[in-house]
Amino acid sequence: MLYLGIDSGTQSTKSIVLDLETGEIVAQASQSYDLIDGLPAGHLEQNPSDWIHAVEATIEDCLSQLGGRKSALRGIGVSGQQHGLVVLDANDQVVRPAKLWCDTSTTEQCSQYEARFGGISGLIEKAGNAMLPGYTIPKLLWLKQNEPENFEKTKTILLPHDYINFRLSGTKRMEYGDASGMGILNVRTREWDLDLIDFVDPRVREMLPELGSSNAVHGTLLPALAEKWGVSSDVIVSSGGGDNMMGAIGTGNIADGTITASFGTSGTLYGCAEKPIVDPNGEIAAFCDSTDRWLPLACTMNVTVVTEQVRSWFGWDLTELERQVASVPAGADNVSFLPYVNGERTPNLPDGTGVIHGLGGNSASPAHLARAAMEGATLGLAYGLRRFDALGLTPGEIRLTGGGSKSAVWRQMSADVFGVPVVGLATAEGASLGGAIQAAHADGQGSYEELCNRLVSLDEDTRCEPNVGNAELYREKLDRQIKLTTVLKEAGML
Ligand code: XUL
Repeated sequence: MLYLGIDSGTQSTKSIVLDLETGEIVAQASQSYDLIDGLPAGHLEQNPSDWIHAVEATIEDCLSQLGGRKSALRGIGVSGQQHGLVVLDANDQVVRPAKLWCDTSTTEQCSQYEARFGGISGLIEKAGNAMLPGYTIPKLLWLKQNEPENFEKTKTILLPHDYINFRLSGTKRMEYGDASGMGILNVRTREWDLDLIDFVDPRVREMLPELGSSNAVHGTLLPALAEKWGVSSDVIVSSGGGDNMMGAIGTGNIADGTITASFGTSGTLYGCAEKPIVDPNGEIAAFCDSTDRWLPLACTMNVTVVTEQVRSWFGWDLTELERQVASVPAGADNVSFLPYVNGERTPNLPDGTGVIHGLGGNSASPAHLARAAMEGATLGLAYGLRRFDALGLTPGEIRLTGGGSKSAVWRQMSADVFGVPVVGLATAEGASLGGAIQAAHADGQGSYEELCNRLVSLDEDTRCEPNVGNAELYREKLDRQIKLTTVLKEAGML
């Protein structure tokens, strides 16, 4: 039996096919795309049609790798970038490009929410989460206030993975995990908060599709697609979820006590919880997961964003980046790179920018910049880990996933920065593996515990123990990063 997992990300779509009997990944394909060029600062958008083209192309590529075996395909599970807003008209056509999780143009709309609902604490009391520019609902309020004609045309709102599910199955539906990142779900009861919805417009109630369990089957592959691809007409589409929710499944993070760190465009740290974990400061997001549990999460917006930036300045490939970083001692001779290149969510600096501090005669080199960038991005996540700790979530080890986790230098740096052992997985594509496992689960092939125990394996060769001296040095460097951030923010410079 074969299950297809699709990870529709910000930079590319990666699809894999999992053989349930052997646990092997028997086909994989990926396709990249860009953000829309030339928009004002803070506006980060994509055309949903680019995701659909990449989904179709990678599915077709995987199926052709399978040859005659493709008739064994039984299910598809989709992971999508969280929070993006897809708006559809009465004919289910996309009204305008999707504003993404990393779009920070909605600061004003978040302030309006805070003013109306008693500030951050009032919002947290109502729904469990603060209202942050990354989330979905401020984007819809922005649409109403800035493009009223497009708001008028909008009849349905979907999240990126919901839209892909819709295009695969013809069914519009939302599941708790990704829906919890919209800013309107009361995560304690897993019901919409109607006051928060009506604040945009009472009409939004009708724009929302049915909401339900992440364990339910979303639908069946459209007959026209099954025919075109030469697969069975009863291939199911599982509920899918946001990339962090699906990454949790694909890294076996399905019980209390495990923490995953994902090093992608964004950086995330997340755990699994049997009950909602609500942060009174609103820095750890109180999301639901996509197995009907909860997923406390810290998200920074700048991880591979910063290392890729440095790589492009000097024209290095990934191996050269790795070599340059390794050529400088831990701490980068006190060069700090505040990584807020795309603005930031944790700490909340939507208009933030990158800052390089501490260049000296012996440290003003490309290699120092590279090391400082990788450290700054990792320290950004360590800030989230401190908050996890304050909420009583202290990991014994951290599982690494995402593109950055393929770097040996970065893995050792994260063990040192986090001060706990880290270990990678057999596949760095945790989110697409999570999609395939979720599809198998929805198809009745076993509990998540059974499936993850059998199908998710740690790669012990990648395990790194923290170096005690470096861990101490990085604790101080994090204090410095926080102090620099606070001072610049208070001076109105971030
Ligand atoms: C998490 C978040 C990012 C996106 C990236 O809240 O916004 O991790 O999901 O796709």
